[in-house]
Amino acid sequence: MSEHRIPLAGVIGAPVAHSKSPQLHQHWLKVHGLRGYYIPMHVEAEDLAQALGAMPRMGFVGANVTVPHKERILEIADIVTDRASLIGAANTLIFREDGKLHADNTDGYGFIQNLRQSAPEWDPTAGPAAVLGAGGAARAVISALLDEGVPEILLSNRTRVRAEALRDAFGQRVVVVDWVQAGNMLEDAATVVNTTSLGMLGQPPLRVPLDGLQRQALVTDLVYTPLKTRLLAEAEDLGCITVDGLGMLLHQAVPGFERWFGERPVVDSAARAAALR
Ligand code: ATR
Repeated sequence: MSEHRIPLAGVIGAPVAHSKSPQLHQHWLKVHGLRGYYIPMHVEAEDLAQALGAMPRMGFVGANVTVPHKERILEIADIVTDRASLIGAANTLIFREDGKLHADNTDGYGFIQNLRQSAPEWDPTAGPAAVLGAGGAARAVISALLDEGVPEILLSNRTRVRAEALRDAFGQRVVVVDWVQAGNMLEDAATVVNTTSLGMLGQPPLRVPLDGLQRQALVTDLVYTPLKTRLLAEAEDLGCITVDGLGMLLHQAVPGFERWFGERPVVDSAARAAALR
């Protein structure tokens, strides 16, 4: 990148207007006194490859991709990291100096960093993790939990075959539990993660009974609208450690910002407030 060019980055999705990433990155640019911009870009699937081809010539150093492009981007990128291929999706792109498009997935990193920062006492090896849901978000979560040494993942999804597909992809440490039995798997869990959209504003509630939950379990929800979901409120009432999902969004943004703009940003209360603005 020439010194005369102002580095640009942004998030590409459809829709993208709701994204919290622009406020967050603009906040970090300001905190670090950096020149640069991060903008939301609404790009339809059929225009994705063409838009990405033009971006480096316009001064873009990288981008995030979100729904519905996270899987399709793997076919367009020149270099895909191992974890992005394992997860089957990417969220962070770098336009390299040599013209190659590099795609990585930082969702699992963001998930783990959020737990580490919000609950330093959390020990992933202390017992099985119970994961609700088997969609795209679950793939990143499962991959990250296995990397952290979780002994076993109990995985339950309304559509059982999707959970079985994840077990086939990630191996025998993943054990599929029927959706109607999801409450029972919480009894053994040291870590509980909701990756479904249940409990989100405008969606049905998550109706898994928490009676058996251990008090020392850590409970986290990827849903962050509302910040305190019913799952987190009930787990908190039982005395569990709870971590909300906004932090994952903030932490997954750190590696991209650092690569594009050259400074490693911190996730603190000011960054949280910026994302919520
Ligand atoms: P994401 O990439 O955010 O994970 P997704 O791939 O669409 O999105 O997955 C959504 C998850 O929420 C899935 O686990 C889905 O269950 P199904 O695989 O059975 O569709 C789950 N989900 C969404 N609505 C649900 C509902 N009403 N009841 C149970 N699970 C639901």
